[in-house]
Amino acid sequence: MEAFSSSLFSPICPSRLILRVTPIPSPRPSYRNNISAVRIQEKPTTTTSTSSNTLGRPESKSTTTTAPPPPQKSTTNTPRRPTTSSSSSSLQTVIFNALDDLIDNFIDPPTTPSVDPTSVLSDNFAPVEEMPPTECPVAEGTLPACLEGGAYIRNGPNPQYLPRGPFHLFDGDGMLHCLSIPQGRPPTFCSRYVQTYKYTLERQVGSRVFPNVFSGFNGLPAVLARGALSAARFLSGQFDPISNGVGLANTSLAFLPNVNMLFALGEADLPYAVRVTSDGDIRTIGRHDFDGKLSMSMTAHPKIDAQTNEVFAFRYGPVPPFLTYFHIDANSSKQPDVPIFSLTTPTFIHDFAITKKYAVFADIQIVINTNPMEMVLGSGSFVGSDPKKVSRIGVIPRYATDEKEMRWVEVPGFNMVHAINAWDEGEDEIVMIAPNIISVEHTLERMELVHASVEKVRVNLKTGTVQRYPISARNLDFGVINPRFVGRKNRFGYLGVGDPMPKISGVVKLDWSEGEHKDRIVGCRMFGEGCYGGEPYFVGKSESDLDEDEDDGYVVSYVHDENVGESKFLVMDAKSPSLEVVAAVKLPRRVPYGFHGLFVQDRDLKKLL
Ligand SMILES: [Fe+2]
Repeated sequence: MEAFSSSLFSPICPSRLILRVTPIPSPRPSYRNNISAVRIQEKPTTTTSTSSNTLGRPESKSTTTTAPPPPQKSTTNTPRRPTTSSSSSSLQTVIFNALDDLIDNFIDPPTTPSVDPTSVLSDNFAPVEEMPPTECPVAEGTLPACLEGGAYIRNGPNPQYLPRGPFHLFDGDGMLHCLSIPQGRPPTFCSRYVQTYKYTLERQVGSRVFPNVFSGFNGLPAVLARGALSAARFLSGQFDPISNGVGLANTSLAFLPNVNMLFALGEADLPYAVRVTSDGDIRTIGRHDFDGKLSMSMTAHPKIDAQTNEVFAFRYGPVPPFLTYFHIDANSSKQPDVPIFSLTTPTFIHDFAITKKYAVFADIQIVINTNPMEMVLGSGSFVGSDPKKVSRIGVIPRYATDEKEMRWVEVPGFNMVHAINAWDEGEDEIVMIAPNIISVEHTLERMELVHASVEKVRVNLKTGTVQRYPISARNLDFGVINPRFVGRKNRFGYLGVGDPMPKISGVVKLDWSEGEHKDRIVGCRMFGEGCYGGEPYFVGKSESDLDEDEDDGYVVSYVHDENVGESKFLVMDAKSPSLEVVAAVKLPRRVPYGFHGLFVQDRDLKKLL
C-alpha cells in the first residue's frame, strides 16, 4: 500500500518526454500515439555519467555508487540476501524476467495513462541517478541563521529500473534529495536511494524482482500470472519479502526525538533508519522495529508532540483489525498495539491527527478492495471508492489501551487523506483542520480531476454533533504548520496549490483563527509559468518557545522550472503576505517531483552522527 501514501499521483502531461529511450514491444492503445517510450534499464549504472533532463539539456555529472555496508543497531535490521548460487540465480533471473515480460506484453500491458510508464515518468517525474554531495551556490539573498547546520530532505519515488510494464507513480523506489546547510560553508546537495530490501536485492540481481503493488494486479489473469511468478521467485529463494518487508520507503521522513533517529517512511513497511553524514551524504542504516515491538508496518505520517517528545502512529490494512493505533513514549518505549475493531471495513487511512487528549481518525469513502469478484469483474485495483459509504470521524483517548472509549461520529462526504492539525476546545469539543477530497472516485486514476477543499471540522464528543466550515475554495493539499503546534490550537497553515495535483504551482498561507464563513488565505506566492514545487515545510526562527509568533519563520520547498530544466531550493518569509523569497539555492541538477519533506535542525542532525 506504499504509495497510498503520499497521496497524490497519477497521470501527468505527456507533452514532453524523457529522451534516451527504446520502444516497449507491446501493443499500445491509441492514447499513446504521441508518446515515444522510456528507457528500459536492466543493469544499474555504476560509473560516472552525464545524463540529460526532459528537455535534452545536459545535467551535471553524477556518480552512482553503492553505499558501504550499513552499521548494525540492535533493533535495526539489514536485509537478508538470497541464498541461491550465482549461476543458478542468474538462470532463474533470465527465466523469471522472460515470464515477467510475457505478462507485461500480453497479459497485463499498461491500459491507462495512470499506469503507463511513458506517461507517468514524463517531464520532471522522470527518475534521476544518485548524486554524491555537491556544492551549490546561494543564487539569491542570504540563508537565514535558523537554517544553518540543518538539512532539508525530501522523499519521493524514483524507480531504480525503468518499468517493463504497468507502473503507477506510487510504485517507485524511495529516493532522498538532501540539501545540507553547514555553518560557514556553502550548501551541498545529494540524492540517495533509501536502501530498502527491495532496492538492495534488485540491485544485486540486476533487474526488477518485486511486483508493483499499485499497477501489477489488474484483473484476474494478471493477478494469477503475477501471483504465480512471485510465488516461484519466493520458492526458488530469489526473494523473501516475508522476512525482509516489501516497503519502498518513498513517502516521507520523520525525526523522532524520543529515539533520536531519522526515518524514511512508507506505510507498507517498518521505518527505515537513515542518517546524514558530516559531509552531507545520506546513509541507510536499516529497518527499525523499536526493540522488536513493531512487527508490522507504520504510517508515513506519525505525529510528534514537540512538548512531550511522544510519538503517535498507526497502521492500517486489508484484514482485521483494519486499523491499529499505538504510541512510543518519551522514553523511546513503544507501547502495546490498540486494535480498532470498530472500523468494520478495510479503508485507506493515510493520515490522522492528535490533540492533547485524543487521536483522531477519518473513516472515508476511499476503500481497500478485498472482494475477489471485484478483481475479476471490476477495475482490479486494490483501492477504490464506495459512494454508498458514510464517512466517519473516530476519536480515541491518546493513551488508550483498548478501544472501549473510542467514539465515532458520522460526517457525510468528509474524505480526509491528509490532516493538517487538531486540538481540544473546552471539555467536550475537538477541532480538526484538513483538506476534504472531492471526487474521491478519481483519487488514483485521474488525480488531475481531484479537488481538495480545506475545512475546519468541529466535533462535540458529548452530543455527537458536527459543524463544518470551508476555509478556502482553492485546490489545496500537502498542508503543514509550525511543528511546535502539533496537537495544539493554532492559526496558520501553509499548503500547496494543486495545478492540477500532484503538481504544485504555489504556496498559500491560511489563517483559520476567525471568520469561519470566508476564504482565509492571508498569504500567497505562485512560482510562475512552468514552475512547480512540492509540499511546503515551515521552519521556525525559534524551535522551543511557544510564546514566539507562530508564523515567525520560513517556508521552504524545492521548486523546478520546466522552462529551463533547473531546480532551486526556495526560502520564503512566512510572515510576509507575499511569502517573499529571502533566499534561493541553485541546485546542481533537477529534482524530480515527489512527496513529503522535512527540515532537520542542526541540533537533531548532531544526534545522528
Ligand atoms: Fe502523505
